[in-house]
Amino acid sequence: MTHEVVVDAERAIGRIHPEVYGHFVEHLGHCIYDGIWVGEDSPIANERGIRRDVVGALRGVRPPVIRWPGGCFADDYHWRDGVGPRAERPRRVNAHWGGVVETNRFGTQEFMDLCRQVGARPYVCGNVGSGSPAEMRDWLEYMNFAGDSTLAALRARNGHAGPFGVTMFGVGNENWGCGGNMTPEQYAGEVRRFATYLHDFGAGGLRRIACGPSGDDPSWTRGFFEALAGLPDGPSKLGLIQGFGLHYYCGTAGTATEYTDDQWYELLERALRVEGVVARHRAMMDEFDPDRRIGLVVDEWGAWHPVTPGTHPRFLRQQNTVRDGLVAALTLDAFNRQADKVVMANIAQTVNVLQALVLTEAERMLTTPTYHVYAMYAPHQGAESLATEVATDRIGFGLPGGGRGSVPRLAGSCSRTAGGLTLSLVNTHAGEPAEVAVRLGRGGAPRPASWRVLTAEDIHAHNTFDEPARVVPVDAEPTAPTLRLPPASINVLTYV
Ligand code: AHR
Repeated sequence: MTHEVVVDAERAIGRIHPEVYGHFVEHLGHCIYDGIWVGEDSPIANERGIRRDVVGALRGVRPPVIRWPGGCFADDYHWRDGVGPRAERPRRVNAHWGGVVETNRFGTQEFMDLCRQVGARPYVCGNVGSGSPAEMRDWLEYMNFAGDSTLAALRARNGHAGPFGVTMFGVGNENWGCGGNMTPEQYAGEVRRFATYLHDFGAGGLRRIACGPSGDDPSWTRGFFEALAGLPDGPSKLGLIQGFGLHYYCGTAGTATEYTDDQWYELLERALRVEGVVARHRAMMDEFDPDRRIGLVVDEWGAWHPVTPGTHPRFLRQQNTVRDGLVAALTLDAFNRQADKVVMANIAQTVNVLQALVLTEAERMLTTPTYHVYAMYAPHQGAESLATEVATDRIGFGLPGGGRGSVPRLAGSCSRTAGGLTLSLVNTHAGEPAEVAVRLGRGGAPRPASWRVLTAEDIHAHNTFDEPARVVPVDAEPTAPTLRLPPASINVLTYV
C-alpha cells in the first residue's frame, strides 16, 4: 500500500510560535546541579559555572525559551535565597525532590546567564502556593526595573546594572496539587489577587501565565475560567492573565528501555492524544475568550518512565530511546498542526530529568533521540503551518487490560518559510517500512531537496556514554515519486 500525504499550500493554519519548541529546567535531581551548573571551580569546562558542553549542545536546537525554577519546586522557592554572593546564600531543603539540600548556587542571575549563553528567553515561574503577592511583585521589579529603585540597585550590586527583560511569568505551578492543593475557584481567587501586583516594570508587556489542568481535566479549566470571568454575576477579570498552561504527560508503557511491540504502540497512542487535549481545552477557553487574548500553553509535557534502576527515585532520571524520539516528534507535529491554538510548549525536562534532551554523568555528556528530533524540527520554529492530509491505515495493538487500541501508521506536519517547505513524517510501525507519496497541492510528487532520518534497527536503541552515537540522524537520498520511510522512523524532508 502506498500512503499519501497532501500538503495544501492554500490552507495556512497559523504561525508556529517558536516558543512551542521551548524547554524547562527545574531544581530536581541532576537537572540544574551537575547537569547545567557545576560552579566556576569545577574541572568540568564551564563559563561562569555553567557547563560548556551542555550549552554547546543546547545551542544546536535553537532553544527559544526556558522555563525555571519549577515545577513543584517553584511554589516552595523564595527568590531572595538565590541572589547575591553565592557563598552567602542559604541552604534549604528541597522537600519535593528527595529532601536534598538546595544550596541556591543557581539562582536568578545564573538562570539569566544560562538563557543568554544558549540564546533563549526566560520564562520564570513564581510562587503562589507558599509565597505572597509582595514577594512575587518584588521579584519582577528586581528582574525588570531599569530605574533607580532599591531592588534594581540590588540587582546592579549583584552584577547586572541592566534589567533582564522578563516577559513570561508563571502565576504558580500545578496549584491543583503541589502548588497549594487548591480548587479551581480558590486558585482563580489567588490569581485575581496576585496578578493585580504583577507589573512588567518596564519590560514591555508581561504575559502572566496561569496554571492549567493536569492533562484532560475539563473541570479545572471550566471552573477556573468561570471564576475568573466572574460568572454568574461578578466582574470579569480575564484581562489579568495572558496565558494558561496545561500539563500533559503521556506516561509510560513498560519501562524506559524495556517494552513489547504492544507497549511501543501504547505509548505512541497516548502521546498522540495531546492533540485532542489541546483542541478541547482551547475550545473551552474560546467560550470565555473568543479573541484568544489568553494563549494556551503546554508548559510541561513528555514521557514519564520508571527511573533508571539504581538512581534516586525522586530524581526522575530516565533513559531515552528511539521510542521517546517518536513521542517527541508526534507531539511536536501535533503542536504544529494546532499552531493556531498553542502559543508555547516546554518539554519536561531539558537535562537529566524525565524526557531529557541531554544526559550527563560527571564530565561526560550525551544527546538523546529526543534531542535529535528538536534539532531536526528546528526549521518549523516560526514557520507557517500548512494543512496536511495524511491518508494512511491504523496499526492495532493489545492493551494491558485485554482490550485493543490503534495508532495511525503515519503522522506528520508541514510548514513554510520563504526558503521552502519543511515536512516532518513519522512512521510509527515498529517493523515495517512505509511507502509514501508526498503531493504538494494538486501537483505531482516531486523529489525533496533533502531528507534526514532518525531511526534504529532495534526499537529499544538509545545512546549511552560508551556508545553516544547509536541513534543519530543521517541524510538519506531523496527519491520520487515515492519515499520508503524506514520502520520506527522520524523523517524531515525539505522542498525548495
Ligand atoms: O516535571 C516534573 C514535575 O512534574 C514538575 O515539578 C511538576 O510540575 C509536575 O508534576
